Amino acid sequence: MKPLRIDILTLFPQLVRAVLDESIPRIAREKGAVEYHLANFRDFAKGVHQSVDDRPYGGGAGMVLKPEPVFACVRHVLAQDTRPAHLVLLTPQGRRFDQQAAIELSGKQRLLMLCGRYEGFDERIRQGFAWDEISIGDYVLSGGELAALVITDAVVRLLPGVLGEDGSAEEDSFNLGPHGRLLEYPQYTRPVEFEGMKVPEVLQSGNHALIAKWREEQARKRTKERRPDLL
Ligand code: ADE
Repeated sequence: MKPLRIDILTLFPQLVRAVLDESIPRIAREKGAVEYHLANFRDFAKGVHQSVDDRPYGGGAGMVLKPEPVFACVRHVLAQDTRPAHLVLLTPQGRRFDQQAAIELSGKQRLLMLCGRYEGFDERIRQGFAWDEISIGDYVLSGGELAALVITDAVVRLLPGVLGEDGSAEEDSFNLGPHGRLLEYPQYTRPVEFEGMKVPEVLQSGNHALIAKWREEQARKRTKERRPDLL
């Protein structure tokens, strides 16, 4: 299978690169499940100052991302590959990102994500392409980079062969694993006793049926206490 191609359009490629070069995003690339391409739309800005932002028409605080460099960059990047790209615009005005959206995006051949900065995008950037506008939560970030990285991380760990053990992605919180849409059960490793806190007996019993039952109960209990909205 061809790797998923992820293009990230950003004014801060070094910030983005630093995260993609570690841990699971890196392993996903090394295993050939994904390829990352970064583009800086400042490179597409005209004039000595290569400015990418300007004052808003009608007045008001802050600056707005200009359409020309963004359009030029998106078009340039799209032309680098024939695979159909799913276009993602990171914005607090978008649909809320969740595990279901991560699963959906992990099935695409190519993702192109545009990270904004400043107070917002010129509206014609929105109109010019068929964006899937996505928000990672109801708070305002200083730019779309961290949101693009959150999405990238959640997506690439779902790609076939990325996580070592079969099924470890399926058993994570929120995935439709053996316990459905529940939070994960408590986990323990050695030592069997630490500062007076013991590993539950059942986990040491070797009785797989009992262990499965205990985990299911714990997952339900935890979900009921913390996220009853999931039940
Ligand atoms: N850009 C700024 N805030 C954001 C958010 N919450 N989600 C996605 N992109 C953003």
